[in-house]
Amino acid sequence: MSDRLQRIQTRYQNSETANRYDSSRYHDFQGRWNNRTVWSVLKKALKHVPAKGRIIDMPCGTGRFSWHLAGEGYQVLASDISTEMLAVAEKAQPSPNSPRPVFQKGDLFNLPFKDSEFDAVFCIRFMNLVDRKVRVAAVKEMSRLAPVLIVSYYHKYTFKYLSRWLRYKLGLRKAPHARLTKEAFLDEIKETGLHLRELLPVTPLLSEEWIAVLERSKSSIPK
Ligand SMILES: C[S@@+](CC[C@H](N)C(=O)[O-])C[C@H]1O[C@@H](n2cnc3c(N)ncnc32)[C@H](O)[C@@H]1O
Repeated sequence: MSDRLQRIQTRYQNSETANRYDSSRYHDFQGRWNNRTVWSVLKKALKHVPAKGRIIDMPCGTGRFSWHLAGEGYQVLASDISTEMLAVAEKAQPSPNSPRPVFQKGDLFNLPFKDSEFDAVFCIRFMNLVDRKVRVAAVKEMSRLAPVLIVSYYHKYTFKYLSRWLRYKLGLRKAPHARLTKEAFLDEIKETGLHLRELLPVTPLLSEEWIAVLERSKSSIPK
């Protein structure tokens, strides 16, 4: 396992980090706006998933989108390697009657599910934390579970990245986190063996997120 992946897996297995995850990112104006815009783009991606279908939200973190998905009528299994993040997620029910996802601890590299057990996999804000080799391995493993994968990737076509890069070049900050060019992204998807059905930008030039809808090609469907 790479050092970076090891750090990501341990970073969130901590109650303080889990309890602060939403409030430090998504409770101010910008965070709420970000949550809303990402969710509106994810809803567009959901047109590729059958109504009331089975979705695995992995890693679900604090359930940022798991409850929304259940509220839209999907049967949701929300899974994460961190018990602490799952504990926050379970308590995040928006209202007493909101439909509940099923929460289950799990490692996305060692999934206890049968091939094609779901209609779609949802994987948001994971690929930005790991390097290419791990991303490709994760997509390959998750594609065993469902014919459609809705995955967020982080690209470099933003004012934020440009500003960080310029300040780095001027010696005013450390190197920005690695972000993808379109070419590198397409090359990476090619390596997964999946087909890119749709690539949805969240907010051009402002948000680093792309939402990719990936599909298994016939040759990659598990026997
Ligand atoms: C940045 S959070 C993203 C959570 C959520 N999808 C969101 O959009 O807010 C990354 C999550 O990945 C989880 N994680 C890291 N490695 C994992 C693995 N091997 N299997 C499952 N979850 C993992 C962490 O516990 C953490 O909750």
